[in-house]
Parts: sequence; C-alpha cells; structure tokens
Amino acid sequence: MKKILVIGSAGQIGTELVLELRNKYGNENVIAGINRTMPSDEVRNSGPMETVNAMNIDEIENVVKKYEIDSIFHLASLLSAVGEQKPDLAWSVNMGGLKNILDLAKKYNIKVFWPSSIACFGPTTPRENTPQKTILEPNTMYGVTKVAGELMCNYYFNKFDVDVRSLRYPGIISYKTLPGGGTTDYAIDIFFKAIKGEEYVCFLNENSTLPMMYMPDAIKATIDIMEADKEKIKIRTSYNLAAVSFSPNEIYNEIVKYMPDFKIKYIPDFRQKIADSWPKSIDDSSARQDWNWKHAFNLSKMTEDMLFNLKKILK
Ligand code: SER
Repeated sequence: MKKILVIGSAGQIGTELVLELRNKYGNENVIAGINRTMPSDEVRNSGPMETVNAMNIDEIENVVKKYEIDSIFHLASLLSAVGEQKPDLAWSVNMGGLKNILDLAKKYNIKVFWPSSIACFGPTTPRENTPQKTILEPNTMYGVTKVAGELMCNYYFNKFDVDVRSLRYPGIISYKTLPGGGTTDYAIDIFFKAIKGEEYVCFLNENSTLPMMYMPDAIKATIDIMEADKEKIKIRTSYNLAAVSFSPNEIYNEIVKYMPDFKIKYIPDFRQKIADSWPKSIDDSSARQDWNWKHAFNLSKMTEDMLFNLKKILK
C-alpha cells in the first residue's frame, strides 16, 4: 500500500482509520474521501482530502488517477437501523458504491478493503459461537446488502483476480466519532450518558448479548488483513471477527463500578428485533489461523479506556 484512499473518512471507523494509516504510511499518502459530512479537525488538518461520492464512479476515478491510488478502504454505508427506515437507499448506496469500487479495482489493479458485518447473519443462523461457514439469511436490508456484497467480492476475486479483503465487524465501540443509525450504538450512547451523569434509556433489553469490539482492535484487524500476504487470505467473502460479547446489563454493571450512581432503564424499540436476529458470539478461528488475528481489549479494559478518554473530551 503506497497511495491509499479511504472512502467514508468522516464516519465512525473512517475517522480513526485515516489517522492510523497516516501514522504508518505518511500523511500525504492517505487521501481522506468525504461526501456530505465534514471529517474531524484531526483528519482535515493532517493530510489530503477529496470529495468522493461512492455512487459517482467518475468522481472516484478522477481521484484514483490524480493520486495513483493502489489501495481503497471503502467504508461508506448505511447501517442496520437507518437501513430499515430507508431500505431502497440502503440497497443503492451499499451495493452501488461497492460495485463502483470493485469495477475501478479491476481496471486499475487496486487492493480493496470492504466491511461486512454480523448483520450478514439472521434468525436461522446458530447464535452461539457462530461458525465462519453457516446460514446467511438476514432479515434486514443492511444484512441483505452485506451478504450480496460478500458474494460480489468473492466473485470479483475469482473472476477478475481483484485483491479484495473483508471482515464481518461486530458492533464497534469508540469515542472520537459517533456511529450513525446502528443497532449496536447503545453500547456507545451508554458511556456518554454515564459521563454526563444522566440516566440511560436503553433501546435493547437487558439480556441482548451481542458481539462487540473496541475501536483500536477494529483498526488493527483492518490494517492487519490488508497487510497480510495475499496467499494467507483464504476467505474472499468475509472473515468472522470477534473480541468480546456482552449484554446491556453486563456493560452497565461494568460502568457502575466507576460511577456508582449511574442508572439505566430498558425501553426496547424496533431495534430489539434486529438484535434478536444476530449472533451472541462469533467463532473467528479462521482469522486467527490464516492471518494471525488477536484482539487486545476485553470488556473491563475497554470500559476503563472509554471512561478515561470521554471524561477528557466531555469535561
Ligand atoms: N454496528 C452495526 C449496526 O448496528 C452492525 O454492523 O448496524
């Protein structure tokens, strides 16, 4: 990877990925692709930035040619909850964007990272220690785009030798940029309320266990899979990826250790049905074997770090 384009640089993962890639590969070699939302000051002030709407292939191609891009991280997407409210838009943005990137990757020999998600699974999938190869029958439009996207990546690899790599992200917890419209967002909102000294009204029930990961682990996995030797990447749909699993009640109990007055109540909404269709825990042994994936943060270490950093930001 010498010249890198990150599409979705103002998003939750994009914000932190751009900064880490700039650390590793040099500020001028990582182009932050943005669309409607302005990225953070840190992203804006640390290197090049271009407007790239993933739906506009000419716009992306101009940036690819201008910088001689050899690697693209394509992160622009609608998430699960907002996708249920706007299913047509979720299909066209999530699938149209990916198809544009894969077509350009084929034409210019570009390496691609594209995220799949635990949302590719559905109510018929085994929910405990969900295997790498299993039933993929999601009941959300977001999940449908993830399954179709995985198959599209695999097709472009087999048919056109496009070096595309993918991870099924669990819910990602972070404090720099908020996610927009996901079902796992509660696990971030809860920290903000705790620090502000307010009660948290959780939109999932207390026992909704879901697979989760702290952002530094997600960034490490994303860069590790892209840096791995090509022959080590044996799965070209998308790798299962895991770190921790917890329920709202478990994360609440962890936060209360630091903030004994913190209160929570549970009023599940339409997102409960989405959470109920997803796994509780994930078997990611293929990622661990094939390219040596290891996570660093468990629930207690993540909670301590989130509270420490959010206190600094919100005070
Ligand atoms: N965090 C995502 C969501 O909740 C899952 O990929 O939609």
